Amino acid sequence: MSAQNQSQSVTVPQIMRRKGLQPIVALTAYNALMAGLVDPYADIILVGDSLAMVEHGMASTLEATLDLMILHGRSVMRSARQALVVVDLPFGSYEESPEQAFRSASRVLRETGCTAVKLEGGVAMHETIAFLTQRGVPVMAHIGLTPQSVMTLGGFKTQGRDRAAWSAIEADAVAVAEAGAFAVVLEGIVEPLAARITENIAIPTIGIGASARCDGQILVLEDMLGLTDRAPKFVRRFGALGDAAREAVRQYAEAVGARSFPADQETYLPKK
Ligand code: KIV
Repeated sequence: MSAQNQSQSVTVPQIMRRKGLQPIVALTAYNALMAGLVDPYADIILVGDSLAMVEHGMASTLEATLDLMILHGRSVMRSARQALVVVDLPFGSYEESPEQAFRSASRVLRETGCTAVKLEGGVAMHETIAFLTQRGVPVMAHIGLTPQSVMTLGGFKTQGRDRAAWSAIEADAVAVAEAGAFAVVLEGIVEPLAARITENIAIPTIGIGASARCDGQILVLEDMLGLTDRAPKFVRRFGALGDAAREAVRQYAEAVGARSFPADQETYLPKK
């Protein structure tokens, strides 16, 4: 399989130059249909491993595989025209060694044609991020509430409520920036800590549940569209597509049941 060679007009250096300036707009998308809707408005499209839960109904992101991420990355790349596309490295595909991470990342870049990969972890991933970036792989880091470590974290808990935890999270932010990540997702972090990190590191911070005091924001598309049943406190529902879809399906079922669908204008007839 080869890369799809779509041209994305937003580049890694452009994202880096947005630090402290115009907020970076990022959203997830998992397929060509949704990526086509998002692309005109987003700077970054993330093919997040949240697709395991949102799209496939799996119990956690830990079930996403490299092949699954590549399949969805290829789909997104078919309709991304201008946004920079980042694909998540799934659990188990990068933690073992920098070499393993490079093998996985090179497959993702080559087989999808995307621009960058994202991986979770701070200080522990310093060597891996440096290894990748020194070999031409742009890396977006992800710290704070890292869903792939949900079992170690003891659940989806906001990070930094206790000030004693701040220095470790700040060390993670500094480590990924020093290692060469071009941006870092801050997930589930209390506002003053997110603000301190954003002020103290040179790369853009993209917040999700980390307050407005970040250089950009990301949400899971299906959450903000109102397609998912439940969403965390930090999600704003910008649409109610779930309700609209349920109502459309209800009306369809009613019309089929009443034989009012298909009507004449929806029916092929022979020439007169
Ligand atoms: O997998 C994902 O969708 C993510 C975002 C929530 C940042 O990592």
